[in-house]
Amino acid sequence: MEQIVINGANRLKGSVEIEGAKNAALPILAATILTSEGKVNLDNIPPLSDVIIMGKVLEALNIKVEFDKFSKTMSIDATADLNSVAPQELVEKMRASIVVLGPLVARLGYARVAMPGGCAIGSRPIDLHLKGLKQLGIEINQQAGFIEATAKDLHGAEIYLDFPSVGATQNIMMAATLAEGNTVIENVAREPEIVDLANILNKMGAQVSGAGTDTIKIKGVKALHGCEHSVVQDRIEAGTYMVAAAVSKGDVLIEDAMYEHNRPLISKLIEMGVKIEVTDAGIHVVGPEVLQPTDVQTMPHPGFPTDMQAQMTVAQLMSNGTSAMNETVFENRFMHLEELKKMNAKFRIEGNSAILEGPTKFSGAQVSATDLRAAAALVIAGVIADGETRVSRLEYMDRGYYQLVSKFKKLGVDIKRVSIDESGRETLITDITDNSKLA
Ligand code: EPU
Repeated sequence: MEQIVINGANRLKGSVEIEGAKNAALPILAATILTSEGKVNLDNIPPLSDVIIMGKVLEALNIKVEFDKFSKTMSIDATADLNSVAPQELVEKMRASIVVLGPLVARLGYARVAMPGGCAIGSRPIDLHLKGLKQLGIEINQQAGFIEATAKDLHGAEIYLDFPSVGATQNIMMAATLAEGNTVIENVAREPEIVDLANILNKMGAQVSGAGTDTIKIKGVKALHGCEHSVVQDRIEAGTYMVAAAVSKGDVLIEDAMYEHNRPLISKLIEMGVKIEVTDAGIHVVGPEVLQPTDVQTMPHPGFPTDMQAQMTVAQLMSNGTSAMNETVFENRFMHLEELKKMNAKFRIEGNSAILEGPTKFSGAQVSATDLRAAAALVIAGVIADGETRVSRLEYMDRGYYQLVSKFKKLGVDIKRVSIDESGRETLITDITDNSKLA
């Protein structure tokens, strides 16, 4: 078993570098399936376990993937004849691999992709992905854990999404690039990761406009080709360090962080009394002596991101009064609060809302991550808690945070990662996401 061990209480000080966004890199890797000519050369690819899994999905489709984890570059050659089946054992490991469905069926006319299950944060259906693909003329057959998609007549369509799903927007957008004629998708997701996907698709020769607004228009083309692209910065990783600085009365520069992408979080932090300064070098965050309470509601972008909800609840619990967190995107994303209870958090759940009672004097405890962002929230609580905190189930953290231990250590936190054998003996290990450790 591995654990992160933190000795509190720490005050963060210094500067931190942010990686390319996992949630931009994953659909971009899927988009390379569309390129029947030339290589795709990618930069700023975060060496995370989810990215490695997506690379393996591509390899299973007969795509050549060369990943240099030191330079964070990836070279992808999808020009050979591709396999049409995305294997179950890989799709099972990562729900996000469902975004290969659209590009694969658009390129080959046929695709068979394992059905992704639900996950800890919600049931996560894919009805909106399938509805949109059907409107493009793709026949969908669901059977025995697989989705079979056949495109005899891939054509443009007018599609309205009932909800601005990130994954559905990506899947439909990628399939439509090779459809005959024009596609208009309304009520689409507007996340910066959608804009990054549209940007690379256009470099590949697609004709996509409107990404970042609620309507995307696509003029179908015959084929796409290789290109060069650098992945957008991870606004959620940046936001995680902003909250850590804010709650620890810290003084941290989040290097090159993008104000526009983090506006919903920044406006809430300012309301809580955090000093935020946008400079040429990045976003400078200074945490106050006392945080003020504030109510937050998660929403699709440009609303407050659900991927910052768990971390933000730690700030709300630290604040001087009662705050509410209303989660509207996923149905089951408060599991981290049960773990924070072991560290002294006081709250009650009312439907989709958590009512959080501050100020909390967090005390160290043994806690377990329940999903990726829960892992980050527990580490942040450990940073400010009195005494020792031990966080386990680190496989969640490794999906989305590159070198988290080293980064917090550099900011002055007393933190380490250990492996514990059956006799209870501890061995110090480096971040599993250090270059040398990644498979
Ligand atoms: N939904 C449906 N039907 C669909 C698709 C979605 O009902 O066909 C529902 C979902 O069940 C959920 C809501 O719509 O309740 C939002 O889902 P969305 O499709 O927007 O999310 P996603 O594409 O599955 C991505 C990120 C998530 C992030 C969400 C929301 C990737 C790889 N994942 O998921 O990231 O929380 O958008 O912003 O981009 C994370 O990084 O920790 C993470 C979970």
